[in-house]
Order: sequence, then C-alpha cells, then structure tokens
Amino acid sequence: MNGIDQLSRMTGYDESVDDHEFLRSYRRLGSVAISPTGFPMALRFSNIAALTDPTTTRQLETESIRKQGVTTGPIFELHNRSMLFSNGPLHKKRRGPVTRTFAFKLMEGMRAEVAKLAAEIVTEAEGQEDLDFLEVFAGEIPARMIAEILGLPKSEMPRFRKLVYSVTRAFKMGFDQAQQVEIERDFTALIAEVDRLLNERKGHPGDDFISRLIVDAQDRFELSLDDIRWQVITLIIGGSDTTRLALCSTLALMLSHTEQWQAFCRNPDELKMQVVQEGLRFEPPIASFARVALTDIDLEGVVLPTGSPVSVCILSAMRDEQVYDAPFTFDIHRTDQPRWHPAFGTGEHRCLGEALARAELEECLATIARLAPDTVLTNAPMVRGLNGIRRIDQMRVRFN
Ligand code: HEM
Repeated sequence: MNGIDQLSRMTGYDESVDDHEFLRSYRRLGSVAISPTGFPMALRFSNIAALTDPTTTRQLETESIRKQGVTTGPIFELHNRSMLFSNGPLHKKRRGPVTRTFAFKLMEGMRAEVAKLAAEIVTEAEGQEDLDFLEVFAGEIPARMIAEILGLPKSEMPRFRKLVYSVTRAFKMGFDQAQQVEIERDFTALIAEVDRLLNERKGHPGDDFISRLIVDAQDRFELSLDDIRWQVITLIIGGSDTTRLALCSTLALMLSHTEQWQAFCRNPDELKMQVVQEGLRFEPPIASFARVALTDIDLEGVVLPTGSPVSVCILSAMRDEQVYDAPFTFDIHRTDQPRWHPAFGTGEHRCLGEALARAELEECLATIARLAPDTVLTNAPMVRGLNGIRRIDQMRVRFN
C-alpha cells in the first residue's frame, strides 16, 4: 500500500498541452497523481463512487475561498450559504426545496421554448459570413432560459445576462484583485435583482417557480428568504457557463465529424440524446470537483489519509480505458455509456439542473441540424482546464 507522498507529480502543464493526452500519460502511472496545483487527483472512473460517498468524503465548504484571502462579501457568502458548498443536514435543507420545485416536468416543458429561441437565432444569423457562436447563441440560451424560469421580464435580459457571466467567475478559483472588485460589484446587482423577485412573489404569489419555491422552502424546510436567495443564485450561476461551454464543444465536435453530423441532420430527434451523451463525455464543461477525505480511503493501492483534499477528475474518468472502448474516439453511436452520466457528478451533490441542461443542449443542437444542416465551423474552440469549470476561448460558425 502506498502513501500519497509516493504519487507521481504532474509537471509541464500549460495552455499548449492537450488535457486529455496529459491525463492519459498519468493514468498509465497509476489511478491517482498529484495535480499541477499540488493536490491528489483521482483519475479513474472506478474512483468516483468512493470519493462522492458522504460517509467517506465531504464537500469543501469555505476553506478554498478563505485560502484565496476572501472572508467577507458576496463571493464568500456564496461559499458560505450555497447548497453546493454544504454538507449533511444543512445541504439537504438547502437542496430539498429546489429539487422539488426545479422538477423534471418543469424542465421538459422548457423544450419547446428552447427550440423556438434557437430557431430565432439561427434564422436571424443565416447568411452572415461568420457568427460569434459563443456570444450570440451559446451565451444567450442558458441565461434566457433561467430568466424565463425565474419570471424576469424580457427587457431585463441584456443586463441580467451581463451580470450572470460576470458573477460565474466567483465559482472559479484564481481571480485577481481587480477581477474580484468587478465580480463583487456585479454580484451585488444580481443579489438585488433576485431579492426583488423574491419579495415581489412573496407579496403576490402565483403559480410560478419562485412562488412555489418560497412556499415549499419556508413551510417544509424552514428555510429563510435569505437562504432561498443563495440557492436561486446557485442555480443561476451553476446553469450558465456549464451549458454555454457544452453547447459550443458538442456542436464543434459534431461539425468536425462530418459523417456523424450528416446522420444527425437526417434524424435529429432520434439522435439528439446520443449526441449530447457523447459530447459531454468527450469534452465536458466541468473537469473535476474537490472533496475532503473523512476516513483513510484506499484508492486501488494508494491510501488517501483522513483530512486530505482530493480532486475527482471526471475529465480523466470519462476517457478511462478500463470503462470505454476506444475512449479517444468521438462516437455518438457508442453503446458503453454508463447509465448515469459522470459529467453531472454523482452522489448527494449530483447536478440539480441536469434535465434543464439536457433540454437546452438537445433542442438547440437538433434545431441547428434541422434548420442549418450545411453549417460550417469557421473557428474551432479551444477548451482547457483540469480544475472545476473549464475555459473556452472562442467559437465561430456560418449557419447555412
Ligand atoms: C451541461 C451542463 C451542466 C453540467 C456539466 C453540470 C455539472 C455539474 C456537476 C458535475 C455538479 C456536481 C459538483 C460537485 O459534486 O461538487 C453540479 C452541481 C450542480 N448543478 Fe450542474 N451542471 C450543468 C448544468 C446545470 C444547470 C442548467 C443548472 C441549473 C440551472 C445546474 C445547477 C446545479 C446545482 C444547483 C448544483 C449543486 C447541487 C448540490 O450541491 O446539491 N447545473 N453540476
């Protein structure tokens, strides 16, 4: 049995390195390695279950944000109050009412709305030489859908969208002081917007998501309005950058695999689910998430000691040679996808927005395949990052 001091150290990682090849080279050396940021990183699919079991690990709470020197203000409060950074009964109390109200049925009902909005953007952009897909399409859909669910008026959209993509940076580590000032300024404005919505619906409840959430959270879970605010903000932040990136990377992958794209264009409704499954496996928006060991954990011969932080690298797990046949081949027809998709995590913190994300991704891609089958990828994106939400630089297309 080895200790973590005997693990290989990942070196030579920079923007020019292909993440997948880099991780493969360390998977060959063992199931765990010390990541470029200095923490044990679990690389195999088989590691995921043990590391997301609440009896063996816990979610990081405020320790990572404190380490960055942030101990007050809205970014700190997000880490202090969001379900994502909570454990045990407090996590259940914060997540419970959102799970009940942000239900599958509501999300399925959004499909027609997503398809309509996607068709509008495609039609408007047709004939344009070169469309900024990241900004005009992929950035618009997640922000618009969450705004619809919250019941924001359309006129508020441009401002809301700007605030959302600024504040999403609070989930990422490594912002500098100037960025922190900017994020906090926009965060304060976003909080004011959410508080306005909550107070309005509390005073005049209707048959909408926010009204139902308030009743459920207060009556069944005894959650204060202040606490509900942070869960709504988690939804807003959790569902924007992630889906934006997945829209870009999956479309780019499909357009770069002509035969698969043509098959999809012939049968968009039949294949949309498979396209999204494979897109999320091949280039997922979240590379890894962190946990802390509550006991000594045996990871195939390596003992992770109690109290050790660990990064669960789903990016690596979804190219694991022990699970997927030809994992470096993009294949929408593959039959070895696990029943639950690791891109959305697993265990108590499994993504709460999976149904919405799938509705957005499937309907957008199917709409493009239907209306613009001759779409050309004019500038392919570069997706990078081993920690948390990954970075995307740009993506441009010509809709035909
Ligand atoms: C393709 C898009 C998405 C991906 C890949 C994704 C992935 C994930 C992952 C991996 C986690 C677990 C993190 C952990 O265990 O530490 C998570 C949690 C979460 N996601 Fe998503 N997500 C996506 C879209 C969405 C959307 C659309 C929403 C809502 C609008 C959303 C809301 C959340 C929330 C609230 C959590 C926290 C759950 C908890 O802590 O109990 N996500 N997501």
